[in-house]
Amino acid sequence: MKLLITGGRGMLGRTLQKEFRDHRLIIADLPECDITDAAGFDHFLAAAAPDAVIHCAAMTAVDRCETEEELAWRLNMAGSANVASSCFRHGVRLLAISTDYVFRGDLDRPYHEFDEPGALTVYGRTKYAGEEMIRRHCPNHLIARISWLYGAGGPSFVHAMMKLADGTRPELKVVADQVGNPTSAAAVARHLRLLLERPELVGTFHLTCEGEASWHEFAREIFRLAGINQRLIPCATADFPRPAPRPANSRLEKRMLRLQNLPPMPDWHHALAEFMAEEF
Ligand SMILES: NC(=O)c1ccc[n+]([C@@H]2O[C@H](COP(=O)([O-])OP(=O)(O)OC[C@H]3O[C@@H](n4cnc5c(N)ncnc54)[C@H](OP(=O)(O)O)[C@@H]3O)[C@@H](O)[C@H]2O)c1
Repeated sequence: MKLLITGGRGMLGRTLQKEFRDHRLIIADLPECDITDAAGFDHFLAAAAPDAVIHCAAMTAVDRCETEEELAWRLNMAGSANVASSCFRHGVRLLAISTDYVFRGDLDRPYHEFDEPGALTVYGRTKYAGEEMIRRHCPNHLIARISWLYGAGGPSFVHAMMKLADGTRPELKVVADQVGNPTSAAAVARHLRLLLERPELVGTFHLTCEGEASWHEFAREIFRLAGINQRLIPCATADFPRPAPRPANSRLEKRMLRLQNLPPMPDWHHALAEFMAEEF
């Protein structure tokens, strides 16, 4: 297959390059390809003539989206609309990456694919608007929502924790009242391969690792696997005020994987152990 990856030099994009090295890959990232330039992207896609597009490009700095709202809309909504309309025009299947931030995070159970969105942040609202553009303008699409992602080279929570545990801090405060599914980019990449191998599939899929944790539990497991004896103090979200409020509940139920008889995502402990052994 010939695959075009938007944002192909970002954290997930680099992992996809590794996972799909048996395919022909075209990387569509800045500066040579800008998804916010509708005509430019259309020319790039037409010349590349891929079998499928994996759309990773986005403005992912969640706090910066609050202060640079116009740019967030331009990239996450309008950029996705451009990618969707080009894919439709050229008959290319589109697999787009989205996020748990489309939800409010106040349910007392994991969110499934058909729960009402209700983003708390500019990032979440613009990503959801991007999803809607894809649904409307490119029927032959898959949308994969992921969360709490870490991958080779970072940046990620795992990389941040490993940097902080440099022996200079007697204790680290880590948020214990947000819960989610820590998810490895490698696990996402393997499941995207399964989805791509099923050309008849369409729709929105949650693709986070199985099992749940708070950031505090996630940090504890990182240090256990790394053999680092770092004292951790659980704290509250309110102790770390940030410009963009984080959802308290980021857990995603993988209902569509089940309904389409696809294998479950790996447990987060196993995926993290595999990653730590390779990365650190
Ligand atoms: N990381 C997470 O925890 C997480 C969680 C949930 C969902 N996601 C989603 O997963 C996807 C991949 O995330 P990631 O962590 O790999 O993000 P990332 O590392 O920030 O990668 C995004 C890539 O897109 C590029 N890009 C930015 N503007 C562009 C434009 N106008 N045209 C073409 N490329 C452009 C970026 O280039 P520059 O670096 O030069 O800007 C970067 O290489 C995103 O859709 C994100 O919303 C991520």
